[in-house]
Amino acid sequence: MKIKKILVTGGCGYIGSHTLVDLINNGYDVISIDNNSRSDSDILKGVEKIVGKPVKNYPVDLCVFDDTHAVFQENPDIEGIIHFAAFKSVGESVINPLLYFDNNINSLLNILKCAVEFDVPYFVFSSSCTVYGNPDSSPVTENTDLKLPESPYGYTKQIGEQIIQQTINNCNIQSILLRYFNPVGAHPSIEIGEIPIGPPANLVPAITQTAIGKQTHLNVYGADYPTRDGSCIRDYIHVSDIAHAHTLALRYLIEDKNKENCEVFNLGTGNGYSVLEVIKTFERVNQKSLNYKLTKRRAGDVISIFANNEKAKNVLGWVPKYNLEDMMKTAWDWELKLNQDEQKKEKKANLN
Ligand code: WQD
Repeated sequence: MKIKKILVTGGCGYIGSHTLVDLINNGYDVISIDNNSRSDSDILKGVEKIVGKPVKNYPVDLCVFDDTHAVFQENPDIEGIIHFAAFKSVGESVINPLLYFDNNINSLLNILKCAVEFDVPYFVFSSSCTVYGNPDSSPVTENTDLKLPESPYGYTKQIGEQIIQQTINNCNIQSILLRYFNPVGAHPSIEIGEIPIGPPANLVPAITQTAIGKQTHLNVYGADYPTRDGSCIRDYIHVSDIAHAHTLALRYLIEDKNKENCEVFNLGTGNGYSVLEVIKTFERVNQKSLNYKLTKRRAGDVISIFANNEKAKNVLGWVPKYNLEDMMKTAWDWELKLNQDEQKKEKKANLN
């Protein structure tokens, strides 16, 4: 059977790079579009080390239609698209909403226009649990009412889902929306992981950068929430489990198993952990004491949310492999690797 070519947008990003690995290891031919505005193209060296073959990235801004269109003209055999490319910091989106609406919506519109023009049959969208807003209770299922998102980032994902659902009604694209909870950790090989650009907004890279001394302490944004220990609760899910779900979602569409032209799946472990519980787990697993301070709440934060993941399990056959301990261990091992690489670069620079 002919190997199918899949376009991964944001392939140099955290989840994108892990998904490139999973797709290639499952027999797909992949290309990436990533202008590295929020990613580091060096990550592809790690991908290539794991899979043993080069991966082509087009350094194109998806907000520029002509440049995006040119990639499809060069690759008319694209049979599937996995669209990751977007800005994703809840906190930053509250500070700069227009940056998020401009980037996340225009890039989606351009990639969809090309998908329609080039008759790409399969489209998987990187959505988010932020589309649920502040749910009345957890776990949330895919049928839980979508409340108003708590941040402009969440709005871009909720609007993005609507744009896709309305667009594909008039064409023969089959689509899946994957609602990630909190992706964390690093590939077990420790060849790829998260490379925050600037000070990390997300909890786990902020923990590992505090532990390694890149930042003096960790701010815990709020310890006065109505939760078991006062800190926010999230469903942390290993990035490699998230990546494999994309391969399963694509296979589900290619094998024509979907019942509707747009289906939604939650990607979480089904377990909710508080910020303080994550910190304690990190300290225990890695034998590191963390310097943290309880500070004021962060605008845009949801109090508590975790997933009901039965649909992804039963329909896609997806079973998360990694637990919170694995997530904390691989996240720390990756931070150590990043630090080691930086020290090697500094030593080399000093010698020259
Ligand atoms: C988690 C908790 C913070 C940093 C993420 C992604 C988003 C989406 C949903 C996929 C919150 C607290 C954080 C820090 C802290 N995923 N925190 N100190 O906001 O849930 O959103 O998951 O689409 O893309 O960003 O994740 O890691 O920023 O915050 O106390 O230094 O950790 O207040 O309660 P969030 P997060």
